[in-house]
Amino acid sequence: MTDTLTLPRPDDWHLHLRDGAMLAAVVPESARHFARALIMPNLVPPVVTGAQAAAYRARILTALPDGADFTPLMTLYLTEATDPADVVAAHRDGVIAAVKLYPAGATTNSASGVRNFDAVRGVLEAMAEAGVPLCLHGEVTDPAVDIFDREAVFLERVLEPVRRATPGLRVVLEHVTTEDGLDYVRAGGPDLAGTITAHHLMINRNHILAGGIRPHYYCLPVAKRERHRLALVEAATAGEACFFLGTDSAPHPDHDKEAACGCAGCFTAPVAMACLAQVFEAAGALPRLEGFVARHGAAFYGLPVNADSITLLKSASPLDIPASVGSGGGRVTVFDPGFPLFWRVAD
Ligand code: DOR
Ligand code: ZN
Repeated sequence: MTDTLTLPRPDDWHLHLRDGAMLAAVVPESARHFARALIMPNLVPPVVTGAQAAAYRARILTALPDGADFTPLMTLYLTEATDPADVVAAHRDGVIAAVKLYPAGATTNSASGVRNFDAVRGVLEAMAEAGVPLCLHGEVTDPAVDIFDREAVFLERVLEPVRRATPGLRVVLEHVTTEDGLDYVRAGGPDLAGTITAHHLMINRNHILAGGIRPHYYCLPVAKRERHRLALVEAATAGEACFFLGTDSAPHPDHDKEAACGCAGCFTAPVAMACLAQVFEAAGALPRLEGFVARHGAAFYGLPVNADSITLLKSASPLDIPASVGSGGGRVTVFDPGFPLFWRVAD
């Protein structure tokens, strides 16, 4: 039985770190295991200019524990007022790695996002020309579309027309939750990739809703039927290079999650690697974990694989997971898959 696994230090290609006291509370959890992370820009107000991204990056570096080896890769929040020249300059100067598109109203702090996709065509063309990747929250916001169908409808209504109109645009369909999304990415060629979270590999919509409502499993895109979860596990564990890890670890204070109108987001950073090792082991695919967490994403972004390594150890006794992390503004519950985890990252 394999009970130890050494891999290059992993990267997280979709991470929410927030700002201020929350940033200080959660960044050590990612820096402990991950070498690099793509940092989401949905602060209030959002990170919309290269100068703001540089300032946010400096705040993240200041919040890191002494001796941490962690590189935040920044993103800009695309609005209908985004200046193409600022995006291209920020990418050229190494300030940002990508641009994030939130359809307005799709999720947490997305109000400044895009309503009219024609309004951002000039920015997308400039990005295609300069090789700046576009990361997408792939859900339509039309209230007439059922929330469980919003990803699938996004593919035909938004993503396909955008990609047709902007040849050469490099796109990441983030936090894929459906077979439809997986198939779309597979058929998209080298300019298209998809990220998959740890939690969508472990929960389906029953976990959120059956036998009581569990707000700490609520995130967006919302987890779908079991057949979609199984398809995600297959995609992640089969070694397909177009799929890689983006945890979408998204901390909210418990009082904002356990509310009449609770926020979307699962705080998975402390347990993501333990969860993934278990999922890959159960699929008989531990040797392919390295590709998913450390190789495929780096290749898409044209970066070297991290030279350092981590070692995962399997114990006979379950991992002792802290139930929550203090944030200054209230406790933040750590994602609990609902069954014991036996893998951990060696200190
Ligand atoms: O569940 C989510 N939480 N999905 C998102 O798209 C945003 C995120 C957040 O910022 O909390
Ligand atoms: Zn996110």
